[in-house]
Amino acid sequence: MPLLESLRDIVGERHCLTDASLRASYETDWTRRYGGHALAVVRPGSVDEVASVLRACTDAGAAVVPQGGNTGLVGGSVPRGGEVVLSTLRLSAIDDIDADAGELTAGAGATLAAVQAAAHSAGWDVGVDLGARDSATIGGMVATNAGGVNVLRHGPMRQQILGFEAVRADGTVLRRLPGMPKDNTGYDLAGLLAGSEGTLAVITRVRLRLVPRLAQRAVAVVGFTDAAAAVRAAARLRRTLASVLALELFTDAGMELVTRHASVAAPFAERRPVYLLAEAGLDGADPTDELVAALEALGVDDGAAAVATDPAGRHRLWQLRERHTEAVNAEGVPHKLDVSVPLARYAELIERAPVAVAAVDAGARVISYGHVGDGNVHVNILGPAPDDDAVDDAVLGLVLELGGSVSAEHGIGIAKVSWLGRDRGVETVAAMRAIKDAWDPRGILNPGVIFGR
Ligand code: FAD
Ligand code: MLT
Ligand code: ZN
Repeated sequence: MPLLESLRDIVGERHCLTDASLRASYETDWTRRYGGHALAVVRPGSVDEVASVLRACTDAGAAVVPQGGNTGLVGGSVPRGGEVVLSTLRLSAIDDIDADAGELTAGAGATLAAVQAAAHSAGWDVGVDLGARDSATIGGMVATNAGGVNVLRHGPMRQQILGFEAVRADGTVLRRLPGMPKDNTGYDLAGLLAGSEGTLAVITRVRLRLVPRLAQRAVAVVGFTDAAAAVRAAARLRRTLASVLALELFTDAGMELVTRHASVAAPFAERRPVYLLAEAGLDGADPTDELVAALEALGVDDGAAAVATDPAGRHRLWQLRERHTEAVNAEGVPHKLDVSVPLARYAELIERAPVAVAAVDAGARVISYGHVGDGNVHVNILGPAPDDDAVDDAVLGLVLELGGSVSAEHGIGIAKVSWLGRDRGVETVAAMRAIKDAWDPRGILNPGVIFGR
């Protein structure tokens, strides 16, 4: 039977989209830098349907691009040309909530916001949080090993996984869902799937460990004269503020974009080149005094500091950081370079990235921000054509010179394929390739992603 007919048989006519207008939103990535046409978009409604879709595609030799919320920022969630997009959006059930153990099972297509709501209803929270929470899915977050704003406290997505269900390219279902924090029984396959970017299997369900809900919170935004001062302050807060949940950095260039595009007011009249956002959280006590005392000990300038404890005020301050992504997008198609460097080189990267970019493209604009608490910088560049990689290469070369990693939390996707070997070395890439070949010998799962063609 021709592939499209088989796919319609498996998921039903309504969930096998071949019409161009219905496929469109699945075919372009969030940044508009990447995309291509899909043979079809299929939306299976169960693990059995996922297995049948994968078997049919393997039999037909058709490539498959797994897709969750399509908020990925490295081009790995969209077709390059002619693949079948397997959307997990119908696999959104959340069940088996264990309020005593602090665990739940989420379908791969459940959004982070939905899982957070379910966790809250049981008195718990999810250890990973990020700005795309209303669209990003648990499956996509595991597949990218998403990080976000609380990594310094709870670690990235890999550290939240207690069990998983996934389907290999040949339709084999792997399932280990009862959660147990201690479970050293052979290889850690869940850990392997975290960060595999849809190249090894389609994740269908995840057992998550939850973290205590810290309902009482305080947020501060503080201005600094340069990146080095802001990074020093962040390093100090990590040691002195026991209740710290997040430490985020942005610059005045980003503040200007956010206040213009996202209709968010600046937190204070005075402007500074660099800002630090710090959030503290406690259960059963107000962390505001602790946060303010820690800031005072840093000797921060009162004219360039704002603190909020009430939900609306905290939300306003968070918007200044979280809405950078959309504000940058509103200016053009960005080159997004998500990288990590040792904390000692963080300020140097912020200062030197614009210089490295200007050396290859004098007209390009650089907007940097990131999760300073864990060494993660997002260097965003506006101006160069989407297919001109000169500025990407300039920044990633600088990152390696500083002893960093070319991907911190977004993955390699197709955006950084040419940098995988330069970052990891041929032996490590060969070891990764051997895993890919063992799991997906016919290479149908997300071809081109991580390794290139
Ligand atoms: P998609 O974009 O659909 O897919 C991402 C990758 O995972 C692709 O390679 C895809 O093939 C694969 N994939 C998706 N689902 C599955 C599955 N079920 N099985 C196997 N493979 C799968 N990221 C961070 O880490 N930290 C942040 O702070 C952060 N903030 C963001 C803020 C905004 C406004 C936006 C737009 C993005 C942000 N991101 C962030 C990036 C993005 O949200 C994450 O990478 C997220 O984990 C992607 O989830 P998704 O469901 O959208 O996955
Ligand atoms: C963020 O931290 O805001 C996200 O990772 C998205 C981005 O890099 O723009
Ligand atoms: Zn980020």
